[in-house]
Amino acid sequence: MVTGAAGFIGSHVVDRLLRDGEDVVGVDNLSSGTLANLSAARSPEMGTFSFHSIDITSDALAEAIARSEPEVILHLAALGGPRCSPLPRYRFPVASPCVIVPKIRRI
Ligand SMILES: NC(=O)c1ccc[n+]([C@@H]2O[C@H](COP(=O)([O-])OP(=O)(O)OC[C@H]3O[C@@H](n4cnc5c(N)ncnc54)[C@H](O)[C@@H]3O)[C@@H](O)[C@H]2O)c1
Repeated sequence: MVTGAAGFIGSHVVDRLLRDGEDVVGVDNLSSGTLANLSAARSPEMGTFSFHSIDITSDALAEAIARSEPEVILHLAALGGPRCSPLPRYRFPVASPCVIVPKIRRI
């Protein structure tokens, strides 16, 4: 599973994992990322890719984890863009694992 899958780094990681033959589940709320970044991943010849348009801070993440049972979660969701002030931008990657880990533990 890759969070922030529709972002710059996430989408490249998704493409690489698919090229390596992994099954990949992408998660992104599309707040700054775009589905266009996942156009290669969504092409049929790239392998098994599914995408969940969800916020990682919502309970929908726990449901997606329970459904897909990922072996690994690569956490690349991040706040970006000129409208985001620096403090939340740097806090989010640090604080969001505290939100994700309990959702994994519940399963
Ligand atoms: N871009 C770089 O050159 C670079 C270099 C080193 C490290 N990083 C780090 O890699 C991480 C990703 O960076 P990026 O450049 O891909 O950022 P990005 O903004 O392109 O991607 C972040 C993605 O997270 C998604 N997102 C934001 N909040 C979300 C939420 N609550 N739920 C679900 N998805 C959410 C956004 O929609 C976006 O698609 C960041 O932590 C960044 O600091 C980036």
